[in-house]
Amino acid sequence: MPNLNLATSTAFLRDQFVPFGEANISVASSGFLYGLAIYTVFMANWNEEHEQLYIFRLQEHYDRLVNSARIMDFADFKARYTYQQFKDTMLELLQRNNAKENVLVRVMIFVDELAAGTKIRGLKNELAVFVYPMGEILPTSGAHVCVSSWVRAADNMMPARAKVNGTYVNASLMKNEALVNGYDDAIALDQFGHVAEGTVANLFIVRGGTLITPDASTDILEGITRSSILQLAQDLSIPVVERSVDRSELYAADEAMFTGSSARLTPILSIDRKPVGDGKPGPVTQRLSEHFHELRYGLREKNWLTSVYPKD
Ligand SMILES: Cc1ncc(COP(=O)(O)O)c(C=O)c1O
Repeated sequence: MPNLNLATSTAFLRDQFVPFGEANISVASSGFLYGLAIYTVFMANWNEEHEQLYIFRLQEHYDRLVNSARIMDFADFKARYTYQQFKDTMLELLQRNNAKENVLVRVMIFVDELAAGTKIRGLKNELAVFVYPMGEILPTSGAHVCVSSWVRAADNMMPARAKVNGTYVNASLMKNEALVNGYDDAIALDQFGHVAEGTVANLFIVRGGTLITPDASTDILEGITRSSILQLAQDLSIPVVERSVDRSELYAADEAMFTGSSARLTPILSIDRKPVGDGKPGPVTQRLSEHFHELRYGLREKNWLTSVYPKD
C-alpha cells in the first residue's frame, strides 16, 4: 500500500512548496490552452535495507529539461535554476513528502501567461513539480501490444526529443485506441512506416542475440532509460545496434521490451496478437531486467543515483 497520497502531498509551484490542492494554474494560461509546457518524469526507488531513496539519473533529467526549453524557445531554464538549485529543490520536495516508497516525480515548466495567444518567446514560465506513488502503468509480467493506426508525430511537426506536454495528445490517441481494442499499449510507427517507440516508452527488440533499438532520428524521445539500457548491454557484452527497424521485424523478433521511467523495463509478450518469441520474457530481457533492477535500487555501483536522505 502506498503511503504517499497525491491529494495530501506537498507540491512545488512558482518557486514555493505548497499543498498539492493549491498547486493550480489558470484555465487561461498558455500551458493549458496550447499545451505549452515541457516536462520530465524521473523515478526514485526505495531501498528498505539501505533505508534510502535513490533518484535515477537526475542530472540527465535536468539536462533534457534544459534542452526541451531550448528547443521550445522557453526562457533559459539553466539561468533560472542551476543543476544544484534544481537538485536541492527535488531533494527537499521528496524529504518534505517523507517519500519512503517507489515514487515518480513529474517536473514541468509551463507558460504561465494568460490569454497570450500561441506565441512563446518572452512569456513568463514557471516550474511545477509533484510526487506520486509509482504504481504499474503496464503489467510487470509483460504487455500485449498492437501497432497503432496513429502515426508518431514527426520531429518537424512536434519536436520529438523535446518532452512537450502538447505532443502527448498523439500518445493518448494511441493508448486509447490500444485499450479500447483490448491491448495494454501500442507501438508507434513513424511517417515512413518505421518503428518508432511506445506511447511513453522506448522500444527494443532482440534478433539472433543482438539488441536492436530505433536510432535517435526515428522521431523518438531520447529516453534516459533507453541510454541506460544501451550502456548496460555494452557492460554485459550484449551486442547492440541503433538503427532503423521495420514493422515486419517486430513479428520476427525473438524478444521485445519497452523501457522508460514509468514503464521501467516491461517485456512485450505479443504484438498484434502474434506471440513474441515463445510468448514469454526471453533471456536477454531477463538479464537486462535483473541488472537494471539492481542498478536502480543501489545494489551495484551508484554513479547514476542521487540519495535523497542524508546519512551520517
Ligand atoms: C514518448 C516517450 N518515449 C520514451 C520515453 C522514455 O523516456 P525515459 O526513459 O527518459 O523516461 C518516454 C517517457 O518519458 C516517453 O514519453
